[in-house]
Amino acid sequence: PIKVTKVCCIGAGYVGGPTCAVIALKCPHIQVTIVDLNQARVDAWNSPDFNLPIYEPGLVEVVKQARGRNLFFSTDVDKGIQEADLIFVSVNTPTKKSGVGAGFAADLNYVELATRRIAAVAHSSKIVVEKSTVPCRTAESMRTILEANSRSGCRFDILSNPEFLAEGTAIDDLFSPDRVLVGSLQTPEGLDACESLAEVYSNWVPKERILTVGLWSSELSKLAANAMLAQRISSINALSAICEATGANIDEVAHAIGFDSRIGPKFLRASVGFGGSCFQKDILNLVYLSESLHLPQVAAYWRQVVEMNEHQKSRFSKTVVDTLFNTITGKHIAVLGFAFKADTGDTRESPAISLVRDFLSERAYVTIYDPKVEDAQIWLDLVEACPNVPLVNIQKQVTIARSSLEACKDKEAIVIATEWKEFREIDWQTVYNNMNKPAFVFDGRMIVDAVALQKVGFKVKVIGRGDRS
Ligand code: NAD
Ligand code: UDX
Repeated sequence: PIKVTKVCCIGAGYVGGPTCAVIALKCPHIQVTIVDLNQARVDAWNSPDFNLPIYEPGLVEVVKQARGRNLFFSTDVDKGIQEADLIFVSVNTPTKKSGVGAGFAADLNYVELATRRIAAVAHSSKIVVEKSTVPCRTAESMRTILEANSRSGCRFDILSNPEFLAEGTAIDDLFSPDRVLVGSLQTPEGLDACESLAEVYSNWVPKERILTVGLWSSELSKLAANAMLAQRISSINALSAICEATGANIDEVAHAIGFDSRIGPKFLRASVGFGGSCFQKDILNLVYLSESLHLPQVAAYWRQVVEMNEHQKSRFSKTVVDTLFNTITGKHIAVLGFAFKADTGDTRESPAISLVRDFLSERAYVTIYDPKVEDAQIWLDLVEACPNVPLVNIQKQVTIARSSLEACKDKEAIVIATEWKEFREIDWQTVYNNMNKPAFVFDGRMIVDAVALQKVGFKVKVIGRGDRS
C-alpha cells in the first residue's frame, strides 16, 4: 500500500472543510489542500481574521493551527488533483429537483463533474475516495468514468468513506468518531488502497474503530445509519402526539424506554421535527433506491419517516393557531431560533422555515431571532418557502431581531424552534413584562421550565406534554 503524503479534498463545505482540516491537524506530515469552485467560500476559508464560511464550535482553533502549515484552501482544482495521492470527493449531493427521480433521487451531477475533472487532469495514479453521501453502487459509475478517460499508466482505486459527523459537534465527532468506515473492492489493489486510507486515520483514531467493509456495504451503511436515526426521531415524535392527547409526558416516556439497554437513551428528544441537509435527503434517496429495486413496501416503510416529520411540523403550527383562539391573523409572534439545530448557522430543511411559512400564510406578523444565522440566509429561505410571494411582501410581515428580548417585545406569543443554550437562560420575567397579554410560550424543543413560566404568568405549551400532564 502507498503511504499517503498529499491529500486533496474537492468541496470546501460543511463536510470537506472540517473533515480535512482535522486530518491536517492530526497528520502534520500530510499536505492537505481543500479545493472548491466557489471563490467566495475559498476566500472565507483563507480570511486573515478567520471569518470562516461555516460556524462550528472549535473549528477556528483547528484552522488556526493548521492553515498555512500543511492545510491550504484554493480554487485551483486541477493543481490540487494533480499533486495529490489521495482525493476526497466531498461535493454536494442534493435531492434532484427535476427529471427522473425528482424529489427523491440524489443529484449526482456534482460528483460526476468532479470525477470527470480527476480523469481529465490526473497524470499519476490516485486513490479516489467518495466522501459525499451517494446511492449504492455510485463507486462503480465513478470507476467506469475514471477508467474510460484516464491516461495510460494512471490507476484509480475507488474507496467509500462516508462521513458521520453531525453539525454543531463536527470537531468533537471528528476528533473521536464512534467509527470510521472504509469500503473497498475486495481485490488486492482495493484492499491496499483501503489500508492506505486507514493508515491516515490511525494517526488519531484507535484501530478497532476503523471498520473496513465491501464498497456497497459502506455506501448503503451511510443511508441506513441516517434512516435509522431519523426513524428514532419520528418514532418519539409520533409518541409525543399521543402524550399531548393523553396527559403522558414524552420526557418521562423517553427516559423510561431509554433505560432499556437495547434501546438506549440517546437521540430520543421529541421536537418540532428534524431538519438538516441529510436526514430527509438520505431517506428519500433510500426510498428511491427501494423503488428502483421493485421493493414498494420497503419504500413505503421509509417514506413514512419523512411523512411523520412533515406531520409533526404542521401539527405544531396548528397547536399555535388553535391555542391563540383559532386565529393568528394580525397577531405578533416571536420565533426564537432559525437554524435546524443549536450550534450551527445552517438552516437547510430547518423546521423553523416551515413554521414561519405557516404563520405567514395565516397572515401573522413574525419576528425572528437566531444567534448565528445571517439575515440574508433567512430572506433566501423564506423566499424559497413562499414561492408566489415577492420578498418585499414577506418583509412587510417579517422582521429580524438582534436578541431574544428585542424579538419578544410587544408580542402575543413566543415560539421556540431551536434549542440554543441562550434560550435556556432568558430572563422570562422581563420578557413577560414587555409582552401583550395573555402571553403564550410554545416550546418546540422542550427547553423551558413550564412550571416556572406559568408562575411568571405565561400560558405554556411544550411539545409532548398535554394540558392534563
Ligand atoms: P456543501 O454544499 O456545504 O459543500 C459542497 C461544496 O462542494 C460546495 O462548496 C460546492 O461549491 C463544492 N463543489 C461542488 N461541485 C464541485 C466541483 N465539481 N469542484 C469543486 N467543488 C465543487 O455540502 P456538505 O454539507 O459539505 O455535504 C457534502 C456531502 O457530504 C453531501 O453528499 C452530504 O450528503 C454529505 N454529508 C453531509 C453532512 C452534513 O452534516 N452536512 C454529514 C455527512 C455527510
Ligand atoms: C445527521 C447525523 O446525525 C450525522 O451522523 C450525519 O453525518 C449527518 O446527519 P445532523 O443533521 O448534522 O447530523 O444533526 P443531528 O444531530 O443528527 O440532528 C438532525 C435533526 O434532528 C436536527 O433538526 C435535530 O434538532 C433533530 N433531533 C436530533 C431531534 O429532533 N431529536 C433528537 O433526539 C436528535
